[in-house]
Amino acid sequence: MDKLVIQGPNKIQGNLTASGSKNAALPILFATILSDEKHLVKNVPCLHDMESTLKMLLHFGAHVNQHFEATWGSRWTIDTSRVTHGNAPYDLIRKMRASFFSLGPILGRLGKGRVSLPGGCAIGARPVDLHLMAFEKLGATIEQSGGDVDIKAPGGRLIGNKVRFPKISVGATENLIMAAVTAKGETLIENAAAEPEVRYLSEALMSMGAKIEGHGTHTIHIQGVDKLGALNYSIPSDRIEVGTYLIATQLLGGDVTIADAPVEDLEILILKLRESGATVDVVGKSVRLIASEKIKPVSLVTEAFPGFATDLQAQWVALMTHAEGESLIEETIFENRFMHVPELIRMGGKYSVEGSKIKIFGKPGVLRGAPVMATDLRASASLVLAGLAAQGESSIRRIYHLDRGYESMELKLRSLGARIERRQDD
Ligand code: EPZ
Repeated sequence: MDKLVIQGPNKIQGNLTASGSKNAALPILFATILSDEKHLVKNVPCLHDMESTLKMLLHFGAHVNQHFEATWGSRWTIDTSRVTHGNAPYDLIRKMRASFFSLGPILGRLGKGRVSLPGGCAIGARPVDLHLMAFEKLGATIEQSGGDVDIKAPGGRLIGNKVRFPKISVGATENLIMAAVTAKGETLIENAAAEPEVRYLSEALMSMGAKIEGHGTHTIHIQGVDKLGALNYSIPSDRIEVGTYLIATQLLGGDVTIADAPVEDLEILILKLRESGATVDVVGKSVRLIASEKIKPVSLVTEAFPGFATDLQAQWVALMTHAEGESLIEETIFENRFMHVPELIRMGGKYSVEGSKIKIFGKPGVLRGAPVMATDLRASASLVLAGLAAQGESSIRRIYHLDRGYESMELKLRSLGARIERRQDD
């Protein structure tokens, strides 16, 4: 097991290139199961979650070759012609709950599957009831036993239908889209997630021949087709990774430019960073942030896209810890997403948490280096940012959480002048 050791504080400056988006890549890689062709997926980020996805694809019978690029990411050639079954055991699902995204493509391709129910995780119970409701609306029969879900499409093919989600769910929307594109007839999805990752998945499926309209809005219309062709697609860059480094620059001070950023997906974050005092310039797909001397307190609420992303909430808490005054953040998406706060308190941060709200008593320079523990992916990122801003040495243990979603974070930060290194955690 590794840990990160950080000396702070120090400013960061220079240029970064964004990696491919983890949350876009996960459903898109599973979507290749929907056809029996040979696929090419480029700019796949090198992350633990991608290794889990690879294991799932191989388990289903796909053949995958990975070719690593000179800088970041990899190119996957995937042959799904020999996908023979859709049974995903618990020991694969538990490693990455997003493996549940394979259910939609398995149903669309094979008409049946047996997948273990994913457990919860540190940030919440993470139920999948909306996924299962959607599949049943398309005619699937579902039996649960021993923690597994046995799901079948009568006659081997789902039937299009109208599905209205009672609440917005990114994963359930993506799973339903993947099941509906080869269903018989039309599917209308109401109260769909409008996240960029849903848009990117739809674009990838349309390049395979799927008929989808309205993706990126809350109403999506799908006309089922009999067969899908090959995928040849490059994973768009990761809005949460880019957002994390922009927040880091404003917190640490400095001047950083990030190339190939999904700027159209960063609107509200850029607005909030400007409110905190940063200068942010967008030129094409490049975003440059010049930090302000002082950080102004900025309150916010996390919401479904285009609102402020819940995946950037922990990083924003770290930034507001050094702001000049109080700010209030409300987390409306997950029920337990303040796991970074007890660790930030160990570093000297001052907060008051009440239910889904956290008040941050910001004070410039308040953070002091300390040994802390990562608990989940985005909390880990928050602790890295705090360690870089803190006076003295910090060590962050259990950074396997971080490796799930950030490609070589310490290398990217070191290239900007941060004093951070990965060490064996004895
Ligand atoms: C996706 O998770 C992302 N993961 C999450 O990113 C992200 O935080 C989340 O969307 C919200 O944007 C991937 O794309 C792999 P949801 P997902 O279904 O699809 C509840 C990260 O850090 N819900 O939109 O699981 C759920 O409990 C990760 O990269 C149900 O009640 O999120 C939550 O409260 C973390 N029943 C809310 O809906 C269901 O069947 C939104 O969850 C499904 C979800």
